[in-house]
Amino acid sequence: MTEALNWWRTATVYQIYVRSFADSNGDGVGDLEGIRSRLDYLRDLGVDAVWLTPFYRSPMVDNGYDVADPRDVDPLFGDLDAFDRLLADAHERGIKVTVDVVPNHTSSQHPWFQAALASPPGSPERARYWFRDGKGDDGEQPPNNWLSCFTGPAWTRVADGQWYLHLFAPEQPDLNWANPEVVADFHKTLRFWLDRGVDGFRIDVAHGMSKPADLPDMDPRAMYNVVEHATYTDPRLNHEGVFELHEGIRRVLDEYPGTAAIGEVWTFDDEQMGQYIAPGRLHLGFNFRLALTDFDADQLRSAIDRSLAVPLRVGAPPTWTLSNHDVWRQVSRYGDGEVGLARARAMALVELALPGVVYLYNGEELGLPNGPLTEEQSTDPGGTSDMQGSRDVARIPLPWSGDEPPFGFTSGSQTWLPMPADWADRTVERQEADRSSTLWLYRDALRLRKSHPAISGDKVSWEDAPSGCFIMRRPGGLACVLNTSDELVDLPAGEVLLTSAQLQGGKLPPNSAAWVV
Ligand code: NOJ
Repeated sequence: MTEALNWWRTATVYQIYVRSFADSNGDGVGDLEGIRSRLDYLRDLGVDAVWLTPFYRSPMVDNGYDVADPRDVDPLFGDLDAFDRLLADAHERGIKVTVDVVPNHTSSQHPWFQAALASPPGSPERARYWFRDGKGDDGEQPPNNWLSCFTGPAWTRVADGQWYLHLFAPEQPDLNWANPEVVADFHKTLRFWLDRGVDGFRIDVAHGMSKPADLPDMDPRAMYNVVEHATYTDPRLNHEGVFELHEGIRRVLDEYPGTAAIGEVWTFDDEQMGQYIAPGRLHLGFNFRLALTDFDADQLRSAIDRSLAVPLRVGAPPTWTLSNHDVWRQVSRYGDGEVGLARARAMALVELALPGVVYLYNGEELGLPNGPLTEEQSTDPGGTSDMQGSRDVARIPLPWSGDEPPFGFTSGSQTWLPMPADWADRTVERQEADRSSTLWLYRDALRLRKSHPAISGDKVSWEDAPSGCFIMRRPGGLACVLNTSDELVDLPAGEVLLTSAQLQGGKLPPNSAAWVV
């Protein structure tokens, strides 16, 4: 029983970007029924759970991360009955369902924000958000120098001269979590979905929910160097008041045994990461180190060591991810083309050899690269920020079947982002028919990860390896060999379980990985 309740400690979770997974009604936008129609695909892939990106009522300025009603489904994606059907059918196949929740901000169309705009400065309606007078003689300067994580200042002025805070788009005003009404309403939202039967949550901007009451200036350099973030003073994020808020969330989840929450937590301060996932707080915290590390064995090894040390110290499972809807697809990060794909396949074997929880992003199992998009085609409000340009390049709809766009994604002729014509050889249909495809690599790796006794133990150790390579061993016996060098290398003695590329004369080629027991 305990093992069943602890499913989230070792799960492989598949992120579904709802707009881009599968469309059921021909409008070119993915939806809940579309997902339901593809559940057998997910069962056959072998994932334990899905994470659905926001599907709540929203004006869709940030594709649903601007929520106008967190307790209803946007008509674009279906309705509550469609959600219940999806949940039931997923559960029937043994797939857990976790949903994205957005506590840091609402849509500017949320009734609370509309009421705040219609109410005077100092009113209780405004106290749910961060309204402040500006600086300067006429208050014409923003209250502080905070920048939006997207682009421009984090403050927008309203008709009566006050300013409101938004860490993202102006259409995403930040909630003030010091206000008990905000806390109570979010707990109500959690219970609403828990009562319907969800298995957990992904908490958007979990590290931003608390702000220092005096809103001190930030160091603007904090914007431009994510990995070194912690070096610069950035009072916008990771404020210590956040832990108490997470403890409140945890108490709600503890009323529903077998559920778990993972926080979107951007911090590279190991001490701080430990605080987020300490007992009584978030079950899991996203670890983005692998997604930010080059294809280099030494750098990857140290990223893995650092990623493991923190959760091991506090008793939480480690988490891993190579990409999501906010970053470039790994094939493109690693150089695109054949090399990019070979490296992405190798990294899949590295990631799936690691202890803990793995988050896959829909389409990585097909080896999809970024899609080519013009500026006009991009819909992303974060597109001009420091996130390497438009995030939409990683959000192109999935190719399912056929020889030309829309590749079975929709029965209509248009898709919300254009699909590249040269994805014909990447469809699910083609890859299912080809035993050497990336889809089959993921299927094989996931099956072994679940069933092979050698893939066990909560640590890894490192064995001597040629330069540019590593050999990572799990206590159960699995060795994962990664070759980021330009040479063919020998494998350690043992049975080869799986390789990301064909061996050449028994040796592992460059840009590949192997599992050996
Ligand atoms: C993080 C989400 O992953 C991203 O897509 C979104 O734009 C921001 N949070 C704001 O909600």
